[in-house]
Amino acid sequence: MTGLATSTGTPYAAILGVGAYRPVRSVPNAEIVEAIDSSDEWIQQRSGIKSRRIAGPDETVQAMSVAAARVALERAGVDARQIDCVVVATVSHMMQTPAIATAIAYELGTDDAAAFDISAACAGFCHGVAMASDFVRGGSARHVLVIGVERLSDITDPTDRGTAFIFADGAGAVVVGPSDTPGIGPVVWGSQGEHFDHIRQVEDWREVIASEKPSMPHLTMQGNAVFRWAAFSMAKVGREALDRAGVSVDDLDCFVPHQANMRIIDALARSMKLPATVKIARDIAEMGNTSAASVPLALDRMIADGEAKSGDTALLIAFGAGLAYAAQVVVIP
Ligand SMILES: CC(C)(COP(=O)(O)OP(=O)(O)OC[C@H]1O[C@@H](n2cnc3c(N)ncnc32)[C@H](O)[C@@H]1OP(=O)(O)O)[C@@H](O)C(=O)NCCC(=O)NCCS
Repeated sequence: MTGLATSTGTPYAAILGVGAYRPVRSVPNAEIVEAIDSSDEWIQQRSGIKSRRIAGPDETVQAMSVAAARVALERAGVDARQIDCVVVATVSHMMQTPAIATAIAYELGTDDAAAFDISAACAGFCHGVAMASDFVRGGSARHVLVIGVERLSDITDPTDRGTAFIFADGAGAVVVGPSDTPGIGPVVWGSQGEHFDHIRQVEDWREVIASEKPSMPHLTMQGNAVFRWAAFSMAKVGREALDRAGVSVDDLDCFVPHQANMRIIDALARSMKLPATVKIARDIAEMGNTSAASVPLALDRMIADGEAKSGDTALLIAFGAGLAYAAQVVVIP
């Protein structure tokens, strides 16, 4: 028997365009404090969050994704028909199957692109970028659309003091495609399932249905344990991603961590010993924690504000439920 033919891609992949969609309604701390017996001052001091965007009825997971993707496609100069694969990272598409990626691929006008969702919570977008890079380099796809999208307001209990002020809504997207030079460094990723319970849906669907008064299951989080894990363990992951990309902290231009908590962002920057020249994404102040959408939203904001310039290197790192994490260095398009 002769060997099978295999696919061959391009030597390098890069992010070609970034897009975002921010829900119209901005909700300041003052609007949510009563239900959780908190204060604007406490929330800002403990998390750095001043306000967050909350999606309206028409700002669905699909609608926000399509809006962010259209911007990313336009900025990349890539037509929807050139997209071979759509990867959607989300935990808030409220239908078990089919994947929302299929509806998004169709609405965008792709030519029957492969489309599927991935569930890696807040780390999902960086998982998607790693996969897209390998698809392009391996020849499974030439252009891949990676979307991070959440409507966490649907699965957040507004009376839960540990989560109500943190979680929010939005969408971000990137187009990954071939490049003449390396644009996406090796991924450093992993999971620690022994901490499965640290952030989770409070009940599984069967438990919900079996309960006397079924209601939407919300997210629950052991905030303190998650804080310690993220602040102490993720610096090592970030450093490893820099090492594997061959980029020193002195060569790094931007740091775009998952927007979980401003204190975690500061702790990571300190323990990674990032020099003052590295620009740090702080989108959380106005966006809250948008899980899978947080890194592309923060990246989009840095580009829009002129903090991240074309050709700059940026360290992306994302972490969350699982506990799962992923990090890589990318070049700003
Ligand atoms: C949620 C978080 C801000 C809570 O801060 P914390 O310092 O751990 O707070 P604790 O739960 O230890 O509570 C400290 C005190 O604040 C009080 N408190 C808790 N939530 C409060 C709230 N929303 N408003 C006011 N007070 C609150 C507690 O009752 C406690 O009071 P006490 O000292 O009198 O007992 C913090 O744990 C955190 O940010 N964790 C990581 C969250 C995160 O990033 N998640 C996403 C990862 S993907």
